[in-house]
Amino acid sequence: MNKPKPAWGTMGFLKSINAEAKTIVQNRCSMCHARTPSWPGIHRAPGGVMLETMTDMQHWAPAINKVVVLSRAMPPGNITGISHEERALLGQWMMVSADNMTAVASK
Ligand code: HEC
Repeated sequence: MNKPKPAWGTMGFLKSINAEAKTIVQNRCSMCHARTPSWPGIHRAPGGVMLETMTDMQHWAPAINKVVVLSRAMPPGNITGISHEERALLGQWMMVSADNMTAVASK
């Protein structure tokens, strides 16, 4: 049987999973984890973790995986309503994309 080639590792696939991961982080994390947080009462990025660009995300990828995928410590009390699917996507992003992102990083 002729199996279709997996999309893993292709530039187009990386670009699209990077874009999806970035949208999730911007919708669920950036309000607190920014250079200038917009969340009321938060005046600087908690733990010094800033998550605004793909470069930021790449820098923190293992930490993101730890607190969002392996545990559910973030967002605190899931206050920004991240879904199971979004957590799973960030786990996939971490596995397939974090090491290859420099080439396709979008600012
Ligand atoms: C409502 C504000 C808020 C949101 C939204 C939020 N965080 Fe946090 N985050 C915090 C606070 C506060 C801490 C510090 C917690 C502590 O030190 O106990 C923290 C800590 C962290 C840390 C450092 C953990 C450590 O062990 O040092 C990481 C990584 C992190 N957050 C990632 C994320 C990610 C990824 C998201 C989105 C899925 C997210 N956070 C959403 C407030 C937030």
